[in-house]
Amino acid sequence: MQKSKYLNVVLATAVLVLAILLATKNDPSAMRKKHTSTASIDAQRYATDSTYVPFKKQSLGVRAELHPKPAAVIGTYDQSGKPNIMTAAWIGISNSNPLSIAVSMRPATYSYGNVTETGFFTVNIPSSDMVRYVDYAGRFSGRDVDKFKETGLTPVRAEFVNAPYVKEFPIVIECELTAFHELGSHRQFIGKVIDVKADEAILDANGKVDVKLLNPLIYAGGKYYETGSFIAEVGESLHEIDGQPFVPAYRKKYENEILKVIHSRKSVRHFTEQAISNKHIELLLRAGMAAPTAVNRQPWAFYVVTNRKTLDALGEALPYAKMLHQAQVAIVVCGDMDKAGNLKDQGYWVQDCSAATQNVLLAAESLGLGAVWTAVYPYDDRTKVVIESLNLPEKHLPLNVIPIGYPTGEDQPKDKWNPENIFWDEKVNDIQ
Ligand SMILES: Cc1cc2nc3c(=O)[nH]c(=O)nc-3n(C[C@H](O)[C@H](O)[C@H](O)COP(=O)(O)O)c2cc1C
Repeated sequence: MQKSKYLNVVLATAVLVLAILLATKNDPSAMRKKHTSTASIDAQRYATDSTYVPFKKQSLGVRAELHPKPAAVIGTYDQSGKPNIMTAAWIGISNSNPLSIAVSMRPATYSYGNVTETGFFTVNIPSSDMVRYVDYAGRFSGRDVDKFKETGLTPVRAEFVNAPYVKEFPIVIECELTAFHELGSHRQFIGKVIDVKADEAILDANGKVDVKLLNPLIYAGGKYYETGSFIAEVGESLHEIDGQPFVPAYRKKYENEILKVIHSRKSVRHFTEQAISNKHIELLLRAGMAAPTAVNRQPWAFYVVTNRKTLDALGEALPYAKMLHQAQVAIVVCGDMDKAGNLKDQGYWVQDCSAATQNVLLAAESLGLGAVWTAVYPYDDRTKVVIESLNLPEKHLPLNVIPIGYPTGEDQPKDKWNPENIFWDEKVNDIQ
């Protein structure tokens, strides 16, 4: 009797669990519950503040807390033909076909009258390093000053519309006024996009704007920011993190962007055919030369190899650098013996050039490129190959060859963390 009662309880529980599972299987709210209960809670806040209640909201009233906002600069001519710029954050794409941009301006701005009069404007998209121009254009009026003259920026008559664009800004969008709406404090101008121009320096190999190179400026909460790093393709995060949409895994893994790059770096030996821009190569070299060196001697020379024949010849002759056949570029990090100092200091050139190499590898990872350190020094045979192939002067001793390209995705980072490699003095080790 006792036994059958027990079996009944087990059976009833099983049926109940099954019913709940079936009921929540395709229920979006169940999905949401799963998401909110597991994903984006700030663990650090939990750890330091036991009174913290996740997702507890406070009403802030009516405030423009839509983030991030673009910080664009609107170019117009006044009645006398004087070019003017004004900063606008109340701006966005408002239609796909015809592609249109909505920008709201207060009647008090000089630009408001200009757009109303001419029926044209340009939208100029700055890189983050142009923040001073954006700030200036948003704090002074063209009614009082000539903003182009004061900033030193260059007005260029747009190709298709009666408005000036800013030559130094990386993206310029020519717009024709098609409608406007009185909204209260602002008039919303709708501009049909007639043409978009972008500096070649910010285009990728497919002729598309590389947002990382553009590094657009963000305006939010009365402050300027620059853009963060690439997280995922549209839709990708949903597939990647099963059951936890909208919460990219890296946030849980890494404390900040630099640690993310350090831990994501891997030796990339498989490359696509995508070319690497000169801008990217320069960024890699700049990172290399930012490395620390003994007594600040900077005892290095960086050879950039882009010639296909030379890359192939090196790939042929060097035993562990076959990936040079696929690479678009190679950077050869050399020690400069003339700069390496006396005998004692000369011993440091390997460390100095190694630090530079690691910087190049990390910079490559941060730019979405792949790279791998292939050793040359201290092997005499490999050293001879590189010296002869690149016709190096006697003072330049090659430490390594770094083949670089866009990764195919085949190479993945390794988790090398091992607490057994750590030796504490007396601290109790609770690191796992
Ligand atoms: C970051 C930032 C964003 C701004 N956004 C707008 C905006 O969207 N609309 C607007 O009317 N004024 C905006 N302003 C203020 C105008 O840029 C400012 O009044 C400017 O002096 C107008 O120039 P103008 O008189 O030469 O046209 C913004 C200012 C800053 C600094």
